Amino acid sequence: MKVFISRKIHESGLQYLRIAGIDIVEWTIKRDLSSEELIDHCQKADALLSAGGNRIDRAFLESVKHIKVISLHSVGYDNVDVAAATDLKIPIGNTPGVLSDATADIALLLILASSRKAIFMHNSIHQGNWGFFEPTANLGIDIRGRTLGIFGLGKIGFELARRASAALGMKIIYHNRGRHPEAEKELQARWVSFDDLLEISDVLSVHTALTSETRGRFSKEAFARMKRTAIFINSARGGIHNEEDLTEALKNGIIWGAGLDVTNPEPMRPDHPLLFMPNVCVLPHIGSATEETRAAMSLIAAKNVVAGLKGERLPFVVNPEVYA
Ligand code: DGY
Repeated sequence: MKVFISRKIHESGLQYLRIAGIDIVEWTIKRDLSSEELIDHCQKADALLSAGGNRIDRAFLESVKHIKVISLHSVGYDNVDVAAATDLKIPIGNTPGVLSDATADIALLLILASSRKAIFMHNSIHQGNWGFFEPTANLGIDIRGRTLGIFGLGKIGFELARRASAALGMKIIYHNRGRHPEAEKELQARWVSFDDLLEISDVLSVHTALTSETRGRFSKEAFARMKRTAIFINSARGGIHNEEDLTEALKNGIIWGAGLDVTNPEPMRPDHPLLFMPNVCVLPHIGSATEETRAAMSLIAAKNVVAGLKGERLPFVVNPEVYA
């Protein structure tokens, strides 16, 4: 049995695959595979371990129908046509849970870095601007005791809420389709409507999946309802905010600051205006990028491959309907 792996992944998963006797073909070149190259490699394999953003759409799935499992090296699966995979009885695996702490840490980092202009101030040292001390220059915003609004309170949002509440005394509000009883009990988190989330939050952090419902949700209209002192944080998917609208909102003082670990598109172009704004911190999608987390993701992705190749239920399956 052979697995094609679309990017270099942590050794932990490779070792698991070797021990299971799976042949491994890895794409190690530092550029994205074209769809033709991906199809070509998958046609010679029994499983795909997909790390990175290659589109796994119906056309692709139709051309690799023989594949026994597609294992994603991510919790998010917005690049996959899950309905098409289900129609073709191809199980899709993902890596939930293990990246919640690392991603919540990045969201907290973005809150602090943007509220204190950390990246801008760091860069100003390189630019030779650490000179005369002015007590009223480059002032940030105190975060302690403010209200953190979470859009999409799941595992990652809950971990951020815990950190923000314990370390910064933040009050937690959230907007979800359903309620989160654990957050309400442990953190006195309060469910609010989407409009209230926009209007009440001092910091608004996005932790939802990218779907047709959430795409472009944070647009000009949404930013206009937020406080002029608010900070917008997104460590989920860049497609959930409209980047032009966000840039305009920041330029025109409609909101105060932003912290992004995800952009739209990715990678962000190096001359993007957001990169030069004092109250903005942008990171290149590194939410899960710690040694421990990437090792855990690689291992889960490998376990999903092995289970799929054995015809067993994947430990973490996105489309359990394939087993119906
Ligand atoms: C995920 O797992 O979805 C993270 O965003 C990494 O891509």
